[in-house]
Amino acid sequence: MAVERTLSIVKPDAVGRNQIGEIYRRFESAGLRIVAARMLHLSREQAEGFYAVHRERPFFEALVGFMTSGPVMVQVLEGEEAIRKNREIMGATNPAEAAAGTIRHDLAETIDANAVHGSDAPETARDEIAFFFRDDEIHSRG
Ligand code: TYD
Repeated sequence: MAVERTLSIVKPDAVGRNQIGEIYRRFESAGLRIVAARMLHLSREQAEGFYAVHRERPFFEALVGFMTSGPVMVQVLEGEEAIRKNREIMGATNPAEAAAGTIRHDLAETIDANAVHGSDAPETARDEIAFFFRDDEIHSRG
């Protein structure tokens, strides 16, 4: 199986609820390694740029407002099938539809404040990682 990297964000709601460690524990328990991490408070420009693909969607303004409402943790996760595995650990976008045992089911309540982000494909993972981290800030152990 291929070792991959994916971009993960612990969103402002989960940071505000003091759940960074709980979420990191779930990544590590699933065999994903945190190979880069940083806390930051996204600017409006950063949030708009990161979610540019959703620019025309009705929820875009609310999404940008939410993502800039407090600090986030951004991290690169590395491991076998990291992209798919992280999406599995996260659960469905809407916490009401997320499977029991997933982060969004267990820790989040609404679709607009759903605790975590994770890249959805290899190309987006590459772009999203480069959005936040230089190569020399990623400490691969693979
Ligand atoms: P999306 O990329 O579809 O989901 P995911 O985060 O699971 O990859 O949407 C990005 C974010 O936009 C999502 O995490 C929360 C927000 N969002 C809404 O607020 N309302 C919605 O109806 C959708 C689809 C997304």
